[in-house]
Amino acid sequence: MKIFMDTANVEEIKEFADQGIVYGVTTNPSLIAKSGRTQAEVIPEICKLVPGPVSAEVISQDCEGMVREARELVRIADNVVVKIPCIPEGLKAIKILSAEGIRTNCTLIFSLGQAMLAARAGATYVSPFIGRLDDIGEDGCAFVENLVRVFRTYGLPTQIIAASIRSQEHVDRVMLAGVDIATIPTKVLAGLVHHDLTDKGLAKFMEDYRNSLKK
Ligand code: G3P
Repeated sequence: MKIFMDTANVEEIKEFADQGIVYGVTTNPSLIAKSGRTQAEVIPEICKLVPGPVSAEVISQDCEGMVREARELVRIADNVVVKIPCIPEGLKAIKILSAEGIRTNCTLIFSLGQAMLAARAGATYVSPFIGRLDDIGEDGCAFVENLVRVFRTYGLPTQIIAASIRSQEHVDRVMLAGVDIATIPTKVLAGLVHHDLTDKGLAKFMEDYRNSLKK
């Protein structure tokens, strides 16, 4: 499973990129707004920080507008992937962009049907939103487990990006499901490295080391 960061905050990405764990980044208009900067400012900077795909979302809701925006976005850097919402106009745009060799990430996926349509339209990635399914009383991780099974059953090349991750349990469950990528918000990613027994174990090693010097 590859690790992406789900943020548009350049400073946060820098910190984790230095640990060598971040392959790609996903953004959306809400995350860009939260960063306090514009998409035009942050995407070029993010693209230099990570080796893999950086998703930048279109604002248009008609096919023509999406395609126009997508062609502009991919000029920013080789690793830009265009995020397109799962709506009928979005599928049309994905078909056109896929034929042009432009990589797309079909976002706001909440059902197997939507994911299959996106894959058949030619999406490079689909982004099922786990937390938002949990929010309406469904089991977002179980949905991702089923989605992995369906894509494998049909041998679809489209990769699954588990998105709207809110907890370490979400990360563990999508990993077990065999998802291709998890896009993880900074706070959850920061928590993954910690374990009480690591801290306790390290403290004990250091204590024993200090004691050994006294002998
Ligand atoms: O990757 C999608 C993500 O940014 C949405 O997360 O927590 O707003 O549902 P959330």
